[in-house]
Amino acid sequence: MTLSSESNGAKLLNLFATPAARVPCPFGTEINEALTNAVRRRMTTEVKDLAFKSETVGNLTDWDDPAVDRLTGWMLGVARTFVETVRREPLHEAVGAKTATDVQILPQRSWASIYRGGDHHSAHNHPNTAIAAIYYVASASTCELDLFDPRVNVDLFDPGITFASEGQIVRISSRPGELVLIPGWMKHAVPQYGDADVRISIAWNLAYAFGEEVHLKPAGD
Ligand SMILES: [Fe+2]
Repeated sequence: MTLSSESNGAKLLNLFATPAARVPCPFGTEINEALTNAVRRRMTTEVKDLAFKSETVGNLTDWDDPAVDRLTGWMLGVARTFVETVRREPLHEAVGAKTATDVQILPQRSWASIYRGGDHHSAHNHPNTAIAAIYYVASASTCELDLFDPRVNVDLFDPGITFASEGQIVRISSRPGELVLIPGWMKHAVPQYGDADVRISIAWNLAYAFGEEVHLKPAGD
């Protein structure tokens, strides 16, 4: 007997796939120096020094910085393409709306992070966020992001043999100039940064905004 043949009525299903994407910015090398300078400037005046890294205060979409705005505009287009590619339909059709402008993807919160040698960010997710977007601005080496198995019951029992990648940690290694998109609920971590130089990244928490014609509100709204 085989489970991969349709002829005997048996079917093998691989369920609950999780989409994630890494996309190079076509103009990344053009803007990364300007972004680095903008973030470093902000870090001198509006900085949140956490024990494990430094973050800018407020939203970088309010900086009125041309490089930040150009990057944000491009990122929003990529995020839309990301969802539409996975769903295989235009975003507005997902909620039965008539026109593309009835659904928008907007940044709710945005900030820059600086990691110095020894810094890290332990496992967390981004609450009330449809898509978490992370862009890498500068780093001497690759920028690593660990993604954790999101299936909530996966740690409850270890049978000795795994057959569904239970508990697997997937490490995404990116270069400056690359954007990573993951669902906001996905638990992730930044492993300890080992370089003497700094690692600069920008993050946006994205949410859907629905037109008045759309009678749907996201959970928690
Ligand atoms: Fe995060």
